[in-house]
Amino acid sequence: MYRTIIRPLLFIFPPETIHRILVTGIKLAFKLPLVRSLISRFYTVKDPLLKTSFLGMTFDSPVGLAAGFDKNAEVFNEFHAFGFSHIEIGTVTPEGQPGNPKPRSFRIPVDRGLINRMGFNNHGARATVRNLSSVKKRGVILGGNIGKNTLTPNEIAVEDYEKVFRILYDSVDYFVINVSCPNLSDLHELQDREALEAILGRILAVREQMNIRKPVLLKISPDLNKRQLDETLELISMLNLDGMVATNTTIRRDGLKTESGVIDKIGNGGLSGAPLKKRSLEVVRYISVKTEGKLPIIGVGGIMTVQDALDMLDAGAHLIQVYTGFIYEGPGFVKRINRAILTKRRAEINR
Ligand code: FNR
Repeated sequence: MYRTIIRPLLFIFPPETIHRILVTGIKLAFKLPLVRSLISRFYTVKDPLLKTSFLGMTFDSPVGLAAGFDKNAEVFNEFHAFGFSHIEIGTVTPEGQPGNPKPRSFRIPVDRGLINRMGFNNHGARATVRNLSSVKKRGVILGGNIGKNTLTPNEIAVEDYEKVFRILYDSVDYFVINVSCPNLSDLHELQDREALEAILGRILAVREQMNIRKPVLLKISPDLNKRQLDETLELISMLNLDGMVATNTTIRRDGLKTESGVIDKIGNGGLSGAPLKKRSLEVVRYISVKTEGKLPIIGVGGIMTVQDALDMLDAGAHLIQVYTGFIYEGPGFVKRINRAILTKRRAEINR
């Protein structure tokens, strides 16, 4: 029903408008009695075999909601009811900022993809913490995806990362350092070894001062070449970082079926969804092989079908996340993935 009736209706509106309407609607609907428990009962697959240990935490299943959907931690508890085991909030920056001018998010249905250049629009770290602490009973594991403000020059970006890290520290369960968003003009330069070492080194040093040790992961771009990937892996191993999130959106446009005039008119931005799948899988597989399966990996990018999810796990991801697939496939997508994982795990046990 989602694909035939609901999605065509939702897709009449621009992506950002419908996102706002849905988030507001879902928040309101969840205030009604029974809504949460009915949705949770319908969409959540509960089985001990789905439980996944990752970085000292136990996830109810491997499937989470990728960063960018709940930027300000407004609906994480509601989306937990749709069957996600974890939600990555953010990207959160120290100060709130409006992001890039609108329109900045575009669907390309022929390719089952999205192109966005949101530019870290968010309400800032303190507002996010207020939202997080307003929820009394939190049942879902939360990742804090952190970045720098657009106006902060790269030379002092490390200060921004430290600021958000400190502000969010007590409020999330793990952190993701985002230096791979293609929508801030020079952010990707922070993926260069020297800049990255400065940021990760500082964050890990700050963590040393904390009472509780929270995992820190790095989110990388699918556009890194082999040399850059190798350098990043070396650095991660040297610093003993906890893991990686692979991948963010791509700036590439090759192989798209959508008319080139349409793509040109959309302009800059990160491409997600089906066209990203091959590269994200490749990157996850590469990291997994190179680290002999020892580095914890969250696989994200182009998971649009149940088989894509299974492929991502087979490639070496320990957890997976979806964003564009959730938009195209609807709320039942997570349940379908979880059921398929369960079937596979049961078959493996009985073999
Ligand atoms: C994103 N993504 C993203 N990632 C991130 O680290 N911080 C962010 O703020 C955002 N914002 C964002 C907005 C929009 C509209 C989209 C579509 C995506 C990237 C996202 O988390 C994910 O890495 C990619 O979208 C690839 O996964 P999918 O969409 O192909 O499942």
